[in-house]
Amino acid sequence: IFHFTKGKGTSLNNIIAVCPGSFDPVTVGHIDIIHRAASMFSKVVVVVMKNTAKSPLFTAEERAQMIRESTTDLPNVTVDVFDGLLADYTKAIGAGAIVKGLRAMSDFEYEFQMALTNKKLNPNTETVFFTTKAEYMYLSSSMVKQVGSFGGDISDFVPESIHQKVIERLERKL
Ligand code: PNS
Repeated sequence: IFHFTKGKGTSLNNIIAVCPGSFDPVTVGHIDIIHRAASMFSKVVVVVMKNTAKSPLFTAEERAQMIRESTTDLPNVTVDVFDGLLADYTKAIGAGAIVKGLRAMSDFEYEFQMALTNKKLNPNTETVFFTTKAEYMYLSSSMVKQVGSFGGDISDFVPESIHQKVIERLERKL
């Protein structure tokens, strides 16, 4: 399955990777993980899903659209919305991998639990964790919303193309 391309690192041929999340909104940390997944797997599907523990600021379609606007430079990345179980989605599209970013140990327990549940529900898909870039260790969508809602500068936290949209939505919420 390993295919070596000079200067381009290793690409996992014919493996579809899914990057799931709530992406409310997508951050530069997410975009970094999506870029790295896109250079490793032949196809990456970013899927906007429901996290039952969160109530989102943006609709699923708005979140998907913001990811599309931020990944136009990545031809092997598509963005989808799915309101169901991740394991059913990965089964339906024949995904070989679920890619998730890990920031700190605090992410680990929850991510490990989800990975084991997803593996139980669909044994054909492996969860792969990418270590976050050190400069994005602190970054989360919740932090972006909190800083932005108090008028703080979020320009380093979200892609340039969606910056204005996020600010406008946060202002309307106040
Ligand atoms: O970005 P998030 O909020 O950490 O992503 C969590 C998400 C959306 C990937 C997770 O809640 C999820 O997979 N939701 C879909 C429903 C599902 O499959 N739940 C069981 C996973 S253990």
